[in-house]
Amino acid sequence: MSSYSQVKLPPRLQMLADMVRRGSAVADIGTDHGYLPLYLVQKGIAKRVIASDVRLKPLENAKKNLEPFCAEGLAEVRLSDGLDAFERGEVQDIILAGMGGDLIVNILARAEWIKDNGVRLIIQPMTRPETVRAFLCSYGFKILFEIACTEAQKAYIAICAVFDGDNEHKGDFVYSYLGELPSCNTEAARHYLNKLRKRLNIRAHALKATGNNESEAAGLSGVIAGITEILQDK
Ligand SMILES: C[S@@+](CC[C@H](N)C(=O)[O-])C[C@H]1O[C@@H](n2cnc3c(N)ncnc32)[C@H](O)[C@@H]1O
Repeated sequence: MSSYSQVKLPPRLQMLADMVRRGSAVADIGTDHGYLPLYLVQKGIAKRVIASDVRLKPLENAKKNLEPFCAEGLAEVRLSDGLDAFERGEVQDIILAGMGGDLIVNILARAEWIKDNGVRLIIQPMTRPETVRAFLCSYGFKILFEIACTEAQKAYIAICAVFDGDNEHKGDFVYSYLGELPSCNTEAARHYLNKLRKRLNIRAHALKATGNNESEAAGLSGVIAGITEILQDK
């Protein structure tokens, strides 16, 4: 794609772009092609973007796409394992999307400065969102809101969080699975919750059948009941 043509984002990336604050400096960690940061500078949403990846090949693609903006100082591509090559104060909105939940937690746990005032995390885990929420809650982050979308019949969620030090939902098993999704009154959120309930039902039945991990099975039953209540209300 030439960076002179306006990039049109698929729904999942558009959902993330819509969560970015106008005028902020943005880091896109695990950027791959760099389409999201390209959109953010093309539309004048971000004042500056840093497209970052741990691999050189994706960075080359991102660099091609972002070239004119790099020349103007509005964009930069950076080789970095997670946030390791970033310094405090460089960015305000940090996007971690399209990666597994365990990897995202691993990246966040190494960067103490993400707790700074004004820093906002925009996270779209492909797997184990419950691990991400549990980490955020135990690390003193507050989930401000979540959004869901569908793309090619698949449902995705994204989490927006900031540090407030309150630990309000720390250790809350049901919250780690549902987060702020109960407040999302959208078809995409219902679609996501429906699929999640099916997955958790299978896991809970397997745990009960084997007699393994009864406390997890009981916790999952609580989550499933919570989802059923939400879906009935909407
Ligand atoms: C599936 S792509 C997601 C691309 C884009 N963020 C999206 O949501 O469409 C995952 C990207 O994360 C990068 N990645 C994996 N581990 C990483 C790490 N520790 N730090 C930075 N990037 C990483 C990969 O090289 C790959 O380009």
